[in-house]
Amino acid sequence: MYEKEIKRVLFTKEQIAARVKELGEEISRDYAGESVTMVCTLRGATIFFADLVREIKCDVEIDFVACSSYGSGTTTSGEVKMQKDLSSPIEGKNVIVVEDIIDTGTTLLALTRLLKTRNPKSLKVCSFLDKPSRRKVDFKGDYIGFEIENEFVIGYGLDYNQKFRNLPEVCILAPEVYMPDLNKAL
Ligand code: PRP
Repeated sequence: MYEKEIKRVLFTKEQIAARVKELGEEISRDYAGESVTMVCTLRGATIFFADLVREIKCDVEIDFVACSSYGSGTTTSGEVKMQKDLSSPIEGKNVIVVEDIIDTGTTLLALTRLLKTRNPKSLKVCSFLDKPSRRKVDFKGDYIGFEIENEFVIGYGLDYNQKFRNLPEVCILAPEVYMPDLNKAL
């Protein structure tokens, strides 16, 4: 499936599972004896989130937010809109925001600034992927699954025009898909 759209597999199911387990262990150590509210940012982080929370061995509550910074293409618009807020207050709670990818950093900078105003006991960010070369604002995640080059990645929750989120691996999208003129030039 998707033979033409996939340039190559970047991380296999096994590599992903091993890294997610390590992240879960690290979080479990850091929050030993404490409760933590894991906040999933819809929609890209859902798959990672579901795997990660099951690797955490402390008291966990889950909640969801939806922010949007992208249009329908491959680049960010720089604007962040909160489309769905948390269901419960986070005052006095340990909160970890879970993302699929930090790209320009715009979304997480805006989201964490907002969440800090609600006075959580602590606030950290766990992102499955990080593309530091794309950063436009000063933002650093606390827990990172994999640092990657500036390539368009799909799968394991990540999409291109809402497709490919169901791929179990992380793959690099063939440039022909988002630059159709390449096909003509070939
Ligand atoms: C993606 C991703 C992050 C954000 C990262 O979300 O899930 O939230 O963009 O980009 P940034 O660091 O440049 O802000 P998107 O708006 O595509 O929504 P999705 O999670 O539904 O795919």
